[in-house]
Amino acid sequence: TAAEGPPAFPFDDWGQQISPAYARLREAPAPACRVVTVTGDHVWLVTRYDLARRLLADPRLSLTAALEADAPRQEPLRPRATGARGDGMATLQERGVRGILADALSPRAIRAHHAWTRLRARALFDELLEQGPPADLQQGLARPLTFAVARRVLLGELTEEEAQLLNTWCDTVLVWRDRTGEEIQAALDAMYGFFLRRAPELATAPGSDVVKRAAAARTRDGGRLGADGLAEVANLMLIAGYRTAASFVANALVMMLSHPTALAALRDRPALLPSMVEEVLRHTPMSTGGVKRVATDDVPLDGLTIKAGECVLVSLESGNHDPHAYPQPDRFAPDRFAADRGPGDGTSSGAGRPRPRPHLGFGHGKHHCPGNALARMQIAVVLEALADHAPALRLAVPTGELRWRPDVAFRIPETIPVTW
Ligand code: HEM
Repeated sequence: TAAEGPPAFPFDDWGQQISPAYARLREAPAPACRVVTVTGDHVWLVTRYDLARRLLADPRLSLTAALEADAPRQEPLRPRATGARGDGMATLQERGVRGILADALSPRAIRAHHAWTRLRARALFDELLEQGPPADLQQGLARPLTFAVARRVLLGELTEEEAQLLNTWCDTVLVWRDRTGEEIQAALDAMYGFFLRRAPELATAPGSDVVKRAAAARTRDGGRLGADGLAEVANLMLIAGYRTAASFVANALVMMLSHPTALAALRDRPALLPSMVEEVLRHTPMSTGGVKRVATDDVPLDGLTIKAGECVLVSLESGNHDPHAYPQPDRFAPDRFAADRGPGDGTSSGAGRPRPRPHLGFGHGKHHCPGNALARMQIAVVLEALADHAPALRLAVPTGELRWRPDVAFRIPETIPVTW
């Protein structure tokens, strides 16, 4: 009620079930609602698919403005190391080297990493199978596979020990509560300091990862990015490229192991794979927060106004579960995105059904995820390996008993216990 004030955000939903609050908000008359973040800031939350698309395409809603020092926030501390700019994409854009990302992460460039990634995934599954049950797919598969890919495609030859350190700092940076501002700032500074020293070295070894391409690129003024620019890029690749993939692959594994009939369907019909990857991206919630923007001008929105300077959080998870965009949105439908939905699916209304709307898993508009081909490739490799290479694997506990890390920005199962 009004007397209680706006609800607290995030909604305390750390697993694969998004809070029922999203469904209530989507059906409410108002297009957006006020929520209070962990900093006490009052911000707008958008939960409907159509509005999510509209607002993410609106140039008056700015990500760069949302990273400013005095902007309202959803996270406890502004994610910026002391002395750093904290906006890797803006750095690449302004120095005229954003194209390196498009080159390194294009579907064509990513196809060249496919066979290698597939072998790596199979080798990791083989190791687990040889050791005998039980196993943990978090430590045994999701983390090492995505880190191996991040080394190869994004960051260069970091050691396992360095990976541990970086993961520990990320763990601090990505929590909503429970850490003091000093702890978070120390982790941000440690990470940036690490890359200030290490990125120029990483750049000199052979390879064609993003950090090396960034080091080799000519900036707009004819110069080079320098250690600080490279550190920004490496930070961005670590958090936006590696931690997202590690967390999403873990979630995709849980999702598939909770739907053994879908895995069996994939085994019978390998052509389902591309659709299943899209459906995993639609159905599986990734973030416990929203993508954030700050209005640089008043934005009228179906009867209310987002005023200049106000912050908007767009819940991609909620948009992806909007029944106005997807029939039976909470059902995992492996063939939802298939061009030919094939026979035997009792819930399909047949060939005349319209193509589904694109999901919001990678966002929308100007900041649509530039790493989407790399993310899709890793998800496809893991689903395929699970179906073909380790078909006897099953969750060792009921899905409802899996433990999830509380208070983190990306949903992360503590472990993924499996047996066979
Ligand atoms: C941006 C999701 C993997 C690099 C985004 C955004 C989303 C997203 C939703 C938009 C954020 C916004 O609008 O504010 C994901 C998911 C992934 C994934 C779910 C894994 C399954 C990757 C990978 C890379 C990457 C592998 C590799 C480099 C980036 C970058 C941005 C971004 C650099 C910022 C783009 C910008 O601000 O213009 N990602 N991502 N992501 N992603 Fe991904």
